[in-house]
Amino acid sequence: MALLRHLLLLSLLLPFSSSDDSIGYYCDKSFNGGHIQADINGVLSDLVAKASVGGFATSSYGKGGSAIYGLAQCRGDVSSEDCSTCLKDAAKALPESCPSQADARIWYDYCFLRYDDENFIGQSDSGYAIILYNVENATDPDAFDKKVGEAMRTARAQAVAPGSGGLGRVKTKFSPYITIYGLAQCTRDIQTLACAQCLSSAVENFANYCVHRKGCRVLYSSCMVRYEIYPFFFPVDPGSSSMSKVGSYFTAILSP
Ligand SMILES: *[C@@H]1O[C@H](CO)[C@@H](O)[C@H](O)[C@H]1NC(C)=O
Repeated sequence: MALLRHLLLLSLLLPFSSSDDSIGYYCDKSFNGGHIQADINGVLSDLVAKASVGGFATSSYGKGGSAIYGLAQCRGDVSSEDCSTCLKDAAKALPESCPSQADARIWYDYCFLRYDDENFIGQSDSGYAIILYNVENATDPDAFDKKVGEAMRTARAQAVAPGSGGLGRVKTKFSPYITIYGLAQCTRDIQTLACAQCLSSAVENFANYCVHRKGCRVLYSSCMVRYEIYPFFFPVDPGSSSMSKVGSYFTAILSP
């Protein structure tokens, strides 16, 4: 936490109307050289093909001194069809968003895609973060935050439990009319302990950005945590109206 420097706080209202827009992306390390782009293209098509099936894949391309490493993961609760669509969008958008950059990452609601010319696979990364927090506060906010804290503890415990595939989902009633939905997930390349640390670090940001907020999420490259008062994960809660209920969010970016 102490290492994170708060770079900028964009007071942007993001209309979260559609799940096919990216939430954000990160680019670093300019390169020139056609063979790097060719390796990136190879990694991307490999990742889309492999991860569309099981929801997760890693890949690498290259020879001689240089290579590109890639990782793709869908949120653990989405269908393989939604996963595939998301990854195709991501693989198209990422090289366009980060032209001639060797370290590129893109976050969507349903998936995450990343490549780098260094082998990052298996190494937990909780440096760069995208944080989205609802512009509105909850009613009875202190009690609400307490309930959110409990929900996130449960979701995190699930995410590191054997057999969970790194995904934790929780649903808990705050009042007769308000349900809190929480989700925690790590990328599948990192070990359980690293996952627990990543999630714990992600939730620590709640104290700075999410206090009283109706909904909030912290997106790292190796894990993410999120809560809302509308159902945003599958299977859709039968008692609720729809998954498309959305609000407006402020965005904050943390850079190491
Ligand atoms: C929401 O609560 C936070 C934390 O108490 C406060 O800083 C912020 O001004 C509140 N926002 C609104 C819209 O009430």
